This record gives sequence, C-alpha cells and structure tokens, in this order.
Amino acid sequence: MRTASAAAMEIVKSTAPALEKHGLAITNAMYARLLQDAEIASLFDRAAQESGEQPRRLAGAILAYARNIDKLQNLGAAVQRMVARHVETGVRPEHYPHVANALLPAIRDVLGAEVATDEVLAAWGEAYWMLADILISAESQAYEDAVAA
Ligand code: HEM
Repeated sequence: MRTASAAAMEIVKSTAPALEKHGLAITNAMYARLLQDAEIASLFDRAAQESGEQPRRLAGAILAYARNIDKLQNLGAAVQRMVARHVETGVRPEHYPHVANALLPAIRDVLGAEVATDEVLAAWGEAYWMLADILISAESQAYEDAVAA
C-alpha cells in the first residue's frame, strides 16, 4: 500500500478547495482525456446503460477524498460502494494508471501551471495512489470471493 507523505497531504489539503471549486471543469477535462482510450471508454459505455448519472462522480470522489486525506479511515462505506460498482463494471488494477494520467493533466489544464505546479501535481499523485491502492486491494479481494463462491 502506498501512503502519501505528510508533506504531500498538507499540499493536497491546501489545494483541495481550489480543486473542488473547479470540480466540474476538472471532471470534464479528465473524461475528455480518459475516454480517448477505447478499452476504458467501453467500461463506461457498459456502465452508462445502467446508470444515467455517468462517470462524473469519479473525479468528484477523488477530490473530496483528497480533502479528507488525513481521515481516510472514515471512508469505509463510501469505499465499499465504489468497490461494488467497480467490480460490477469490471474495473482492473491496470486501469488505474489511465485515470491518474487523465486526472493530473486535467488539474493542470484547469488550474494552470502556476497554481498546479509540479510539486502540487506530485502531491495529488501521491493522494491518488493512496486511495487507488485501497480500492485495488478491496477489489481484488471481491473478485477472489466471487471466484470462490
Ligand atoms: C482512485 C480512483 C477512483 C475513484 C476514487 C473512483 C470513484 C468512483 C465513484 C465514486 C464511483 C460511483 C460509485 C457509485 O455509484 O456510487 C465510480 C464508478 C465507476 N468507476 Fe471509479 N473510481 C476510481 C477509479 C476508477 C478506474 C481506474 C476506473 C476504470 C477506468 C473506474 C471506472 C468506474 C466505472 C466504469 C464506474 C461506474 C460509472 C457509472 O456508474 O456510470 N474507476 N468510481
């Protein structure tokens, strides 16, 4: 499990309000990047048939959780919901870099390089991978349980 450093957590918390304020623009920029990959797009096409809400919640969740990055132990129920949805839609560990590679440039696109400096993006990268590792591990357990059942 990767854990964000204390310094990265401080940076993330200090920039979280700006990111949340621009959340919709960041989400849109992220999806424009993410859905360029056909395999990733097909995961969301399948999901869209079941849920009209569509992917928007994903980036929103990352931003909200990064804001609570020093209280991640309180996220149990929300994490279970994400895990369940990811397992239903067939999300795999190898998909996670695609979301990181879409989200971090989207943050820079929207906030600009003067606010979203290399240091800020690196801190957000640490925050992303900390949450991703929690999800990946819970999801691999859920896939194993499904095979065993
Ligand atoms: C740290 C990384 C991630 C976070 C925080 C996250 C968060 C979320 C959240 C909050 C939801 C909505 C759950 C609900 O229905 O209440 C969701 C759904 C979903 N996520 Fe993730 N996710 C992450 C990574 C990924 C990755 C890597 C993929 C695959 C590329 C992915 C694909 C999906 C899909 C297909 C759905 C269902 C969308 C729908 O309901 O229309 N997610 N995720």
